[in-house]
Amino acid sequence: MARKISFINYKGGVGKTSLIVNTAACLAKAGKRVLLFDFDTQSNASIWLLRLERWNLLNTSGKGAIFSIFESSETRVKDCLVRDVVKGKSGESLLPGLDLVPTTFNLVDLESDYRGNPQRPPFTIFQEQLAEIESDYDFILFDCPPNILRASQCGIFCSNEVFVPANPDALSLIGFTLLVEKLQKFHQISAGFRRTGMGPIAQVCGIVFNAIKPEMDIDVPKMRMQLRMNQFKNQRRVAQNAKIFNATVRDATVVRRAVTLGLPVTLLGRVGDDADNVQNDYMRLANELIQHASAF
Ligand SMILES: Nc1ncnc2c1ncn2[C@@H]1O[C@H](COP(=O)(O)OP(=O)(O)OP(=O)(O)O)[C@@H](O)[C@H]1O
Ligand SMILES: [Mg+2]
Repeated sequence: MARKISFINYKGGVGKTSLIVNTAACLAKAGKRVLLFDFDTQSNASIWLLRLERWNLLNTSGKGAIFSIFESSETRVKDCLVRDVVKGKSGESLLPGLDLVPTTFNLVDLESDYRGNPQRPPFTIFQEQLAEIESDYDFILFDCPPNILRASQCGIFCSNEVFVPANPDALSLIGFTLLVEKLQKFHQISAGFRRTGMGPIAQVCGIVFNAIKPEMDIDVPKMRMQLRMNQFKNQRRVAQNAKIFNATVRDATVVRRAVTLGLPVTLLGRVGDDADNVQNDYMRLANELIQHASAF
């Protein structure tokens, strides 16, 4: 059964997309079958992995992007799959095993203009369609925006685990706290829609510190995060196996460059110590994720 994981924090810009894209790539490199969903209308993960030219075609037509499953009952999630999304210049697959369901800017319409049947909120439509393909994967990852509106709800409803990217600062801690509150509210309103076989509701299982600069002392922010997590654990508002990951990801220019190059960091090859080190960070994170007992 696929592990289904949302990456989310109510704080924006903490590294959700960078972590999910690079972790997904490392999982695929380790031989796992990985499907990444982009649920952020900014389309950052989609533009990164498809590169601008391929993504522009999709954005212009709107066909094959996740919003199309809500526009027409004839389009299903499986029709939006981009298999082995990372391609070289001649279209050859550079990373077999990493598939993407992309988004385009029209996903924003799901939050404002969408008029569906209230008895069938978008997350139920998505869940039914995901069920058709999930056995093809070991990991299904959802890149969420910093909120739990309709798009994120699709990922969260189907996930059994939530990972929280964080920077070592007070705002990330506030974002985590708000996330736990909003998750609880969403689980309350969506409880009646759950079906047997979906597994446990998605609670926070892990916090990952990202973009750590060499001079940063992360002990104090880590301790504050741990205290907050302990409180939530006692209140049973996060998973009982929730932890702060030992693996952290350093701040490295190459992470920003990777977006421009349209490749995950792990495929950049040997381009200096900075890149080698951060590649190892992502690989350690992926291995820890594999080892971390899932919510089941
Ligand atoms: N380890 C890192 N080293 C250097 N830069 C990083 C690192 N991780 C992320 N960044 C940069 O920080 C910025 C924000 O990262 P990212 O887009 O992944 O955050 P996000 O949480 O997904 O943001 P949003 O809330 O807008 O979706 C990007 O420019 C990204 O390239
Ligand atoms: Mg993002």
